[in-house]
Amino acid sequence: MTLDGMAPLEPVIGVIGTGYLGTTHAACMAELGFDVVAQDQSPERVARLAAGELPFYEPALAELVRRHTASGRLRFTHDVADLAAVADVHFLCVGTPQAGEGMAADTSQVFAAAEALAACLERDALIVGKSTVPVGTTEALVAAVTRRAAPGIDVEVAWNPEFLREGHAVDDTLRPDRLVLGVSSAEAEKILRQVYVDVIRDGAAVVVTDPATAELVKVAANAFLATKITFANLMGELCEAAGADVTTLAESIGLDPRIGHQFLGAGLGFGGGCLPKDLRALIARADELGVGHARRLLGVVDEVNESQRTRTVETAVELCGGSVAGVRIAALGAAFKPGTDDVRDSPSLAVAARLRDLGATVTVHDPHANDNARAAEPDLCFAATAEDACRDASLVVLLTEWEELVRLDPRELSAYVAVPRMLDARNALDPQRWQLAGWEHRGFGRSSDRAQPSAGSRVSEMELMQ
Ligand code: UDX
Repeated sequence: MTLDGMAPLEPVIGVIGTGYLGTTHAACMAELGFDVVAQDQSPERVARLAAGELPFYEPALAELVRRHTASGRLRFTHDVADLAAVADVHFLCVGTPQAGEGMAADTSQVFAAAEALAACLERDALIVGKSTVPVGTTEALVAAVTRRAAPGIDVEVAWNPEFLREGHAVDDTLRPDRLVLGVSSAEAEKILRQVYVDVIRDGAAVVVTDPATAELVKVAANAFLATKITFANLMGELCEAAGADVTTLAESIGLDPRIGHQFLGAGLGFGGGCLPKDLRALIARADELGVGHARRLLGVVDEVNESQRTRTVETAVELCGGSVAGVRIAALGAAFKPGTDDVRDSPSLAVAARLRDLGATVTVHDPHANDNARAAEPDLCFAATAEDACRDASLVVLLTEWEELVRLDPRELSAYVAVPRMLDARNALDPQRWQLAGWEHRGFGRSSDRAQPSAGSRVSEMELMQ
């Protein structure tokens, strides 16, 4: 019986790795009623989590961790033997970063974690991978854990990829649109259906398949999203050259239900700990498998995405009259997207750093990511408010579209800057509103020399045409 008086559900769940994925999965499994033990090799991280303190910002997660460390359904440990002793199902949630050299994913943490667990198992167990891995990993892992497990201990490996977005991690885990169960036996499927019984009852679609397909589903989903964003950015480039408007274009093609509106936002491009490295890992795996077309298409996606950062820097230089040396620039946003403090492969922080390298005095403000950005780029200046970042600036660059930054009042902000000049690298602002307040406004893929109709009037124009 746990402290909240509820008997925990079966099976007991182990989670290995307490990053964004593992911590969220562990807390959500406890929320669903299971007894959960989560392991991380860092005793310091374990102590912080046990005290209900998150090592990163993720809305709603700290509250869930505190609730279930208090209820007794969620425990943290640094010793994998603690999981082996009590859990029946073990979720692997460790990182698979881009390897030091080349584009491939480094799966060493996945193998190390599974092998360490297998070595201390005293009864049969199901290991379920959630990390994003190259196709073929489960097959190799089965051989590795079988070698490490004691004779007579039966260990099965399944793959059940995560699709959670940072900033929405709790909701995406408790209410996912689909569950992909990559299993090799009916028993593994039965156990996973038991774990997700409430999630399935609440409407998540279930796809039961083999582990290789499950592994590939995850990277294919991310590669598709990356391709969609890059397509929007290519259209943006065309719009800019032709004097057309990419936001209206995206809105219009998105009305086709086969296309949809999401991930058609042209601008600075994608970043973060997943999309870029998963795309590159897929390119590397496609190479190994001898699939040349995949490399060509996805290679261009990666290249175009990187070039968006260069385009943004070049536009900033152009707006400043050909050089940013000695120019005071306000960089609004450092996180790779709103809703997170994650600055891994952040296009926003990369642009701020490149402008500094070109001699600009760059002051960054991010509502939640200042600390992480400072740790990554200690030579940049940081401000606690957007207004302070903009003080005496000759150029303001909107790099991450946090709601509070998008809502800034251009008239009020005019009082702080030296020159009212805005580069909206995310196409998140209403150009007309800023222009009417006396600002020079430049977006991406929108003709800047003529005032654009507001978003509302664009929609109603389209409604009239339908
Ligand atoms: C992503 C996937 O969405 C998720 O399913 C997977 O499990 C992990 O990777 P996340 O890294 O949290 O999640 O970011 P996501 O919300 O997908 O955004 C990715 C990037 O694309 C961000 O940098 C965002 O700014 C950018 N983006 C998104 C665009 O540039 N334009 C868009 O229209 C949408």
